[in-house]
Amino acid sequence: MKASILAVAAALYAQEAAAQFAQAAMMRFQCSQLVIERLDPLVNPGQLQSTHLHQIVGGNSFNATMTPVEYDPAAKSSCTTCTFAEDFSNYWTANIYFKAKNGSFKRVPQMVNLGLKGQGGVTVYYIPPYDGKTKVTAFKPGFRMLAGDPNLRSQKGMQKQICHRCEHNIAQNPFGGAPCTGDDTAAFPKKPCDGGIRSTITFPTCWDGKNVDSPDHKSHVAYPSSGTFESTGPCPASHPVRLPQVMYEVMWDTREFNDKSMWPETGQPLVYSTGDTTGYGQHGDYVFGWKGDALQKALDARCSGDRCSALKTQTNEETLACFKGQTVKEQTEGWLDSLPGDIPLN
Ligand SMILES: *[C@@H]1O[C@H](CO)[C@@H](O)[C@H](O)[C@H]1NC(C)=O
Ligand SMILES: *[C@@H]1O[C@H](CO)[C@@H](O)[C@H](O)[C@H]1NC(C)=O
Repeated sequence: MKASILAVAAALYAQEAAAQFAQAAMMRFQCSQLVIERLDPLVNPGQLQSTHLHQIVGGNSFNATMTPVEYDPAAKSSCTTCTFAEDFSNYWTANIYFKAKNGSFKRVPQMVNLGLKGQGGVTVYYIPPYDGKTKVTAFKPGFRMLAGDPNLRSQKGMQKQICHRCEHNIAQNPFGGAPCTGDDTAAFPKKPCDGGIRSTITFPTCWDGKNVDSPDHKSHVAYPSSGTFESTGPCPASHPVRLPQVMYEVMWDTREFNDKSMWPETGQPLVYSTGDTTGYGQHGDYVFGWKGDALQKALDARCSGDRCSALKTQTNEETLACFKGQTVKEQTEGWLDSLPGDIPLN
């Protein structure tokens, strides 16, 4: 009895969250692929190459060294792969590879989210509080942060709101349920997903007001001290500045890998470029690079979707004309004998 009441309450909560998510004004836009390579100016600054492979979108000044403040992506970039022309930020995640029965790996391509145009990449969200009036403060120059932990192999210690959704239909409804509700899982889905996999990475929303980075790239930000960002829960006294909620959605096109006769005997065939076969190590990196106060203006105007009167937009052709070659050339495509960087499965 009690269990069923809880189940009904959970279902109602999920429905309510989905409805709020669908109605809330939020910036949601495409950033197409800039480059796929082993660089990580946040976690491994200056290092050629970083330990694992990433897919990177945004401004083309992305580089091994991007010293906070001193290296201004808006000044150094000549183009961006994002729809909003003033957004030279870099957004990146690990890649997903499929491991076939014979032990070979192939990168799982990405697709563009419903309603958007471009190539691969990430759907980026900047979400203001759902009440429609509470103000948020845009990130300061040099700001950066990390969500998730590439080393996790179980749910213990995972940050909130990082998950995978097994899509049943390729023409998925982008508002078919708020992220990390319903059947979404922190781990990789265990079964083939006919419509691909959507992964969601949501960043913390409270800032200490001083540091644009911290040694673990996390301690300068925090979650609301009670309630949630969505319910306009207050920020803790240690991190009093309310930020917009940054969220990534990555659409992984698993369709060419859904034939179970290709799957290894061990089952679930997907692996992150970190060697993570569980999915719990999903993570995202953010380096702020908006020009001037463009992001604050867009937040204050409560812009929604990928058109905003306060911002300049680019055409699809313009965003696709922006790309970058690998700094260190490396094979990442086709059938590979091992993951890039020879990372062992772990
Ligand atoms: C990127 O870093 C390299 C050194 O690794 C440097 O030569 C190059 O000028 C940097 N690019 C920019 C845009 O600063
Ligand atoms: C491994 O299996 C895949 C999928 O069946 C196949 O395309 C690939 O050529 C195989 N690789 C090797 C080295 O046999």
